[in-house]
Amino acid sequence: MYGTGGGGGGGGEVSGRSREKQSLNYGDPLYWDLRYMEEGGAAFDWYQRYSALRPFVRKFVPTPARVLMVGCGSALMSEDMVKDGYVDIMNIDISSIVIEMMRTKYAHVPQLKYMQMDVRDMSFFRDESFDCVIDKDAPVCASQMVEEVSRLLRPGGIFMLITYGDPSVRIPHLNQARYGWKIVLFVIPRPGFQSTEVSCPKKSILEPVPLTEKGQLPAGYVLEDPDSHYIYVCKKMHEFMGTNPVYRNQLEADGEQ
Ligand SMILES: C[S@@+](CC[C@H](N)C(=O)[O-])C[C@H]1O[C@@H](n2cnc3c(N)ncnc32)[C@H](O)[C@@H]1O
Repeated sequence: MYGTGGGGGGGGEVSGRSREKQSLNYGDPLYWDLRYMEEGGAAFDWYQRYSALRPFVRKFVPTPARVLMVGCGSALMSEDMVKDGYVDIMNIDISSIVIEMMRTKYAHVPQLKYMQMDVRDMSFFRDESFDCVIDKDAPVCASQMVEEVSRLLRPGGIFMLITYGDPSVRIPHLNQARYGWKIVLFVIPRPGFQSTEVSCPKKSILEPVPLTEKGQLPAGYVLEDPDSHYIYVCKKMHEFMGTNPVYRNQLEADGEQ
């Protein structure tokens, strides 16, 4: 489910807590509680920082949007979004430890709210109560979560999923007729990736990746960085789309929001 993001903290002698953590997996809330306790609240963003994601967020999410950040962890992403003008970000995470740490850290930032919650059951929130849901490497594989995200988004709202999971893994989860998403895919190299290509002109990162009718990368499509990260921008359509998924590479042409 997760890639090689790693994290801050840890190192040195293996403590009792570390040993306990090693026997758990990423799907276990206790794993995350122990990890955040060890890290002592140090900020850490998995995979990508807001600076790299900003072009996508700014393109698809207007600053007054009501944003839900799922599996927020100790990332600086939400803080950076507030510094960039976003005014309403609800952050949730299954770890009560990290939520308490973040709540204390941002007590003076009214634009940021934190709640302990499992993404598979967000019944605390009313239907259509968000304009945008952002998931940066939270456990999206849970189909219950995608169901919940769809319920929480207003029609026309955006689900932005940032992950290392390629379309062969992610599209089957997202591509369900009942959600009626219009999906556009972008690819960004992992931080620090050095391109060796010098001759061909650089493509804009905002140029969507073409998808086949089945929602897969076209045969022969070559990623410049084989360990790229993917950004799935899923728009909740107003009307039911029927059983045929619709992939569009011109989401913005609809006049977002
Ligand atoms: C890989 S970290 C990503 C953190 C942050 N989004 C980032 O980009 O740095 C995954 C986060 O998802 C949280 N998480 C795991 N399972 C969850 C669940 N079922 N509901 C809510 N959060 C969950 C973990 O506690 C952890 O903070």
